[in-house]
Amino acid sequence: MLRLLNVPAMVRHLMLRRGSKSVHDPENDLELALYATLFGNNFLHFGYFKNPPADAQTMSMADMKKAMDDYADLLVARVARGEKAIELGCGMGGLLARLDAAGVDVCGVTPDKSQMAHIGKNWPHIALDNCKMEDLPKKQEKFDVAINSESFQYVDLARGIKKIDQLLKPDGRWLMSDYFRFNKDAHNGSGHILADFEAALAAGGFEIAERVDITENVLPTLRYAHFLAANLALPVAGFMTNKFFRRHAFFEYLFAHDVKGGLKKIRLKTIDAEIFRREKAYLLLSIVRRKK
Ligand SMILES: C[S@@+](CC[C@H](N)C(=O)[O-])C[C@H]1O[C@@H](n2cnc3c(N)ncnc32)[C@H](O)[C@@H]1O
Repeated sequence: MLRLLNVPAMVRHLMLRRGSKSVHDPENDLELALYATLFGNNFLHFGYFKNPPADAQTMSMADMKKAMDDYADLLVARVARGEKAIELGCGMGGLLARLDAAGVDVCGVTPDKSQMAHIGKNWPHIALDNCKMEDLPKKQEKFDVAINSESFQYVDLARGIKKIDQLLKPDGRWLMSDYFRFNKDAHNGSGHILADFEAALAAGGFEIAERVDITENVLPTLRYAHFLAANLALPVAGFMTNKFFRRHAFFEYLFAHDVKGGLKKIRLKTIDAEIFRREKAYLLLSIVRRKK
């Protein structure tokens, strides 16, 4: 309460906090720290379960890590040693590192300064651009392979495809793994609409050379996330909230109604595997220029 009345100290704290936002120190990035603690593998994707487990309750963090590694394998297996590749939206650099270790001449692009600093610290020899892929300046060098691993969903279709066209050698290929919506009414609006993507590809002079539907292989991640959220995260959040308000009657009076109401409203539909299966497809695609 006294701290609430100490206005100069409060202003100082807020200014320091605001100032710290512009300093991109991976050690102080909360999201990176969370992923690093949870998985410790530098991947930010759904993972690929070769043999999808029937029951989320039997899954473990070790299964998740293995699935994320197996997902990277799918992409690494499609790039040859010595080829020049660029990963667009490279996250924490896990796939860059795997490609680099496989003898691929790889570089990365991420708009996120914390991810950039994390990769620079761990793999300083891998060249990086810090921007959105659409804004990547024209490069002299052309690539055998461009890769988007669960990152093209954030990119404007026409601008993104134009950028791929600029980056690839005439016989280059675009590897992409991502999920797509069947129509615009999906519960969770993330992912391009598949028909729009296919139309934009055709308009940009590209065609799909390989198409693997891996939806069933990624769904266990959603089932596991849903299981953990419903059976662990939400009950713990409820418990901690009640415990806090029981000790702090003043804050209970001010905030308990909203906070408890907010917790009750969490529906978990965005991580419901059955809804995802009805409304989306997770595809692994190899895309090439259409033969004239
Ligand atoms: C789900 S993560 C995938 C990271 C990584 N490819 C992997 O498989 O672990 C999505 C990534 O896309 C990046 N991203 C978001 N918008 C982007 C854009 N317009 N251009 C390039 N990357 C973008 C994010 O910063 C993040 O690194």
